[in-house]
Amino acid sequence: MAPSLSYSTAALCLSILLLLASSVVPSAASFNQDFDITWGDSRAKILDNGDLLTLSLDKTSGSGFQSKNEYLFGKIDMRLKLVPGNSAGTVTAYYLSSQGSTHDEIDFEFLGNLSGDPYTLHTNVYSQGKGDREQQFRLWFDPSADFHAYSILWNPKGIVFSVDGTPVREFKNMESIGVPYPKNQPMNIYSSIWNADEWATRGGLVKTDWTQAPFTTSYANFKADACSWSSGASSCGGSLASGGNTWMSQELDATGIERMKWVHNNHMIYNYCTDAKRFPQGFPPECKATAS
Ligand SMILES: *[C@@H]1O[C@H](CO)[C@@H](O)[C@H](O)[C@H]1NC(C)=O
Repeated sequence: MAPSLSYSTAALCLSILLLLASSVVPSAASFNQDFDITWGDSRAKILDNGDLLTLSLDKTSGSGFQSKNEYLFGKIDMRLKLVPGNSAGTVTAYYLSSQGSTHDEIDFEFLGNLSGDPYTLHTNVYSQGKGDREQQFRLWFDPSADFHAYSILWNPKGIVFSVDGTPVREFKNMESIGVPYPKNQPMNIYSSIWNADEWATRGGLVKTDWTQAPFTTSYANFKADACSWSSGASSCGGSLASGGNTWMSQELDATGIERMKWVHNNHMIYNYCTDAKRFPQGFPPECKATAS
């Protein structure tokens, strides 16, 4: 019995491997394969055989794209190079969102600035239609000088926003204390660039200088180890090379928490959880539950 048992075990392993391989969401895939340009006509371009995507804004319009897939949990990486030079008044948004009035959303937004003045990285989390959870950062590099990685780890335990692998924000699943958590609504990935000079730069004081248009943000190296959702069924991948879908249970470890503290102590410029003026009746429950 022993030899045939191990033979069938091997066959079983092989078929599991094949099954896994077939449900893997393509990593290092092309923009043509994973995204649709949704608005802005020729202001949005997929270049270099699908390796590069650019979005532009001019006086007439901005532009945007969205993922073909919907995702329910995943580790999603993208590299962005933001509008260089005088980007004041422009906003580049890169986010995950579901549909409808009780939607969930996980946001990165980049608020442009005058040449030499720092961008603001704005983040937010919506659960079941409610956001108002802004945290803002100054990056420790110029995000328009080169491509940098912006990642979202989203699993049943929490959401971690990272920049070049450094965690900048964690939103834990705190359903146990009554905070709704995004876990039932699949989300698409979206990005767009638009003019927001009525509020974006120094609260709207600095206007977009249209003589500098078009304003262009570039995208590269999209990678999703994720559960993609189609017609009510989820198929979870994760490149086998990176150990299957370990991201599904990943949380910040002690080193990650230390690095996030460094970001919060040195690069955070706004945290709704410390904005007492805004919450005269007391901070939202998730603020009391987390140190920062
Ligand atoms: C732009 O730079 C100014 C001056 O350093 C700063 O006050 C502002 O917060 C920066 N960012 C935005 C988005 O206005």
